Amino acid sequence: TAVDQYYSELINLSDPILEEVLALSHATGLPEIQVSPHQGRFLEILAKTSRATRILELGTLGAYSTICLARALPASGKLITIEFDPHHIQTAQQNIETAGLANKIEILEGEALPILKQMINDNTTPFDFIFVDADKHNYHHYFPCCLSLSKPGTLIIFDNVVRQGDIAAPENNDPNVIGVRKLNELISITPGISTSMLQTVGCKGYDGFLMVRVDDTVSSDVA
Ligand code: SAH
Ligand code: DHB
Ligand code: MG
Repeated sequence: TAVDQYYSELINLSDPILEEVLALSHATGLPEIQVSPHQGRFLEILAKTSRATRILELGTLGAYSTICLARALPASGKLITIEFDPHHIQTAQQNIETAGLANKIEILEGEALPILKQMINDNTTPFDFIFVDADKHNYHHYFPCCLSLSKPGTLIIFDNVVRQGDIAAPENNDPNVIGVRKLNELISITPGISTSMLQTVGCKGYDGFLMVRVDDTVSSDVA
């Protein structure tokens, strides 16, 4: 946490809008499980570098990560975020307005999995960037849906894949950890993707991101 603080000051991470977002989330009683300020900036830089114009997020909470990601979008860009808790949505909507991003962000209310399946049925335009941060025990169900909503070059990021090392502790049978392990098994047999895992430590404890990039199409594939 001290190192997070040191670098926050060094790189001037202070951000009145995100501070207001956290204040309202706290005041409305939301759990303080949003990504850290450094992780939020990391997601923003990744989305910007990938030149994302369409972003999908599972798990809005108070829209902290949502706002970080939406800041990476160009004027015509769009972010869709899925959340099933109406109280979280109410706070998120207010925070999105505070950030002046209501024109770019749409919150879909409901269970993530049926909404994803509906999007696939509707032939929704694929996304450039997907942040998966809803219920961890369903990560292995979300992954195939995310792939169906992707295109060559799409980046899919899963949060909370380390959980203080629980992922690698064989005796740990927490359903959330099992969900991530099932995701990892699926990833290990999925062709056409490149995968990386980044462990993180700081004010949000010890955890990590899993990053999956859908490979570029090679010309022989289209022939
Ligand atoms: N991405 C946020 C944190 C999300 S916390 C941030 O970093 O700022 C996880 C959120 O997922 C919670 O708000 C929870 O209500 C929501 N959630 C959990 N299971 C869900 C499901 N099955 N469908 C939709 N939302 C879900
Ligand atoms: C927790 C942290 C998260 O980032 C999340 O998405 C869900 C839960 C936690 O610390 O409990
Ligand atoms: Mg998370």
